[in-house]
Amino acid sequence: MHASLLATAVALALSAAAPTLLAADAQPWMNKARTSTQRTELLLQAMTQEEKLLLVFGYASGDQLAQVDASVIPGVNAKEVITKVIPGSAGYIPGIPRLGLPAQFQADASIGVRNPYLERTSLPSSLATAASWDSRVTEAGGRMIGLEARLSGFNIMLAGGVNLAREAQNGRNFEYTGEDPLLAAEMGAGLIRGVQANHIISTVKHYLINAQETGRNIVSAQISEPALRMSDALAFELAIEKSSPGSVMCSYNRINDVYACQNDKWQNQVLKRDWGYKGYVMSDWGAVHSTVQDANGGLDQQSGFPFDKVAHFGKPLKEAIDDGSVPQARLDDMVRRILWAMFDKGVVDHPLGDAKTAGAIANAIDYAAHAKISQQAAEQSLVLLKNEAGVLPLSPDAMPKRVAIIGSYADKAVLAGGGSAVVTPIGGNAVPGLGPGGWLTQVWQPSSPMKALQKLLPATQFAFDAGTDVAAASKAAAAADVAIVFVHQWTAESLDAPSLSLDGNQDAVVSAVAKANPNAVVVVESGGAILMPWAKDVKAILAAFYPGANGGEAIARLLTGAVNPSGRLPLTFPASTDQLVRPQIGGKSEGPLFTVRYTEGAAVGYKWFDLHGHKPLYAFGHGLSYTSFELGGLAASQAKGQVTVKFSVKNSGNREGASVGQVYVSAPQSAKWEAPRRLVGFDKLALKPGQTGTSAVTIDPRLLATFDEATGEWVIAPGSYEVQLGAGSDDIRATAKLSLTGRRFTSAQLRR
Ligand code: BGC
Repeated sequence: MHASLLATAVALALSAAAPTLLAADAQPWMNKARTSTQRTELLLQAMTQEEKLLLVFGYASGDQLAQVDASVIPGVNAKEVITKVIPGSAGYIPGIPRLGLPAQFQADASIGVRNPYLERTSLPSSLATAASWDSRVTEAGGRMIGLEARLSGFNIMLAGGVNLAREAQNGRNFEYTGEDPLLAAEMGAGLIRGVQANHIISTVKHYLINAQETGRNIVSAQISEPALRMSDALAFELAIEKSSPGSVMCSYNRINDVYACQNDKWQNQVLKRDWGYKGYVMSDWGAVHSTVQDANGGLDQQSGFPFDKVAHFGKPLKEAIDDGSVPQARLDDMVRRILWAMFDKGVVDHPLGDAKTAGAIANAIDYAAHAKISQQAAEQSLVLLKNEAGVLPLSPDAMPKRVAIIGSYADKAVLAGGGSAVVTPIGGNAVPGLGPGGWLTQVWQPSSPMKALQKLLPATQFAFDAGTDVAAASKAAAAADVAIVFVHQWTAESLDAPSLSLDGNQDAVVSAVAKANPNAVVVVESGGAILMPWAKDVKAILAAFYPGANGGEAIARLLTGAVNPSGRLPLTFPASTDQLVRPQIGGKSEGPLFTVRYTEGAAVGYKWFDLHGHKPLYAFGHGLSYTSFELGGLAASQAKGQVTVKFSVKNSGNREGASVGQVYVSAPQSAKWEAPRRLVGFDKLALKPGQTGTSAVTIDPRLLATFDEATGEWVIAPGSYEVQLGAGSDDIRATAKLSLTGRRFTSAQLRR
């Protein structure tokens, strides 16, 4: 008898006799007392070949799917699948009801549930919350968006971008968590933990490099293995250890000539073997290029068909297994990994409501509370870059009579980044009709900084000027006691920023305002670093990135001192583009395959600036507060090969505030590090005026090592190292010596 018929017959017989037996005996994998690994093996044994093939093949939603040949996957009718997919969602993999295995409903992305038909709460951009330097902030955000995902009918969230900001112009830097592997991993891991706390799977993405959007499907990132292990790959390695994401998404690009999703080296040898990763690799949407190479190269699930024009994992995978070019054991391994993630993250044991009733369930979402979570994230994250002559905070005690608000629709909205990560705001797009249109329509969150300021400064008169005309802006500024100019740079997936300069006449507007008013303040809404030719002419600058659903309220509370700024830059703001490794992004969007050589290796961001002695406009780790901190008591010690750094921080000013103590280490020449120093630890402390707090950070040994390609080991060179304690990478307050003995170890040994 056919295995599935046999199973059905057994199930029917048992259910008639003793319903409780059904779960315990007929479906032993449903026994929660067993481990995820045991349950996985039991279920795998019960599956037919067709069911296995079903599980490794994902569909996109809507219009794309409607055009699909109905029989790409044996035993499944794509036309039926369409009726199950949540419209506007990222993807869908059918369930297997006879085995109690739920369908997988996939939703983008890292700042909230992305769907053109569903209005949901948006966090600030991931780069913004990385600026909190506090994984409690990203974790709280992850919990909130993961709950919205679950209540909206999704059990897989494509959240968790940790690609390093290797290129200042990368259009997706806003989706990632900065330029340093440790910071990126900590912040990304917080988000993933939060999302998965809702018994849903989160991905970490996009594995690996994917440092530019220009030609992302045709570029090959050329980089040495040690450099990659010590930079982008390290961010993934640490993020995976700190959050155990159910899934890893492989990226569009090639890595040293081999497509990421068929890359045996980085998927099989590094991710799965060296790092011991137990979850599954899903492809990015349209990133699969073959059946045999991708399957054998370590891809476990093809996503979002028909983004790939060919159903590589449908019938062709079955045929490849039949003719032996893909081993049966490989298909079993793909399925095993997907099942393990579904058990381990709680997807099987915590079923979603019926997707059809998702709309009704979504009414249960407390949007007001969630907007506050987003606002708090922004308040912990936005970075005060400059504040001269105490122009900020605009306090109610010394209330300015007249404030001019200029530019960037600040009378009604704040900006969001574009592409698959953009969330449809509650209440809709506040400034419709901008941007290239379609999936790249510019989205503005309906949260007005001006209205929020008006509430906080009730006796002040506010006037708004659109900031489109230099003379008008200058006139508005001249008529006020304080002029706040909002500038913006919109970036999006699939497009790199054409330059780091602001669009249109925004620079000219700021310069004119600064001339017209001695109290000029600039609020920057951007995807990442921008150039600020006017920085020296204005009194204060707040980096707001894309500040999320209540960004306007957060900006107002920071400007008025209702909240003391505590964000620190997660990436370097260059003084000019010639300080960058590559002043322009290489390659073309379409055409022949091309290569970008990452000759800087692991010297990304501030490491590159240190190496070349470039003085940035604003350094990595920089950020001001309305209070002041004394950092000291630095001591580094070693026990059982573990290095711990202790320090103390005193709030020496007269306002409550939070400091981020940053620990950097520089190595002796003989260690041959990629750059003079690395961030090895940090700790954010909230302190009352006069209060002193202490921190102890343990240093991951990989952050003190280089990678030896010949042996696959990390190597710590013996010698005298310097530990630096800073309030920013350019603001070192204390140093201490650290003497290390030589040591070699593998990533696997660290897990034991
Ligand atoms: C993006 C992914 C996203 C996927 C599904 C791709 O274009 O690169 O980040 O998760 O689409 O929407």
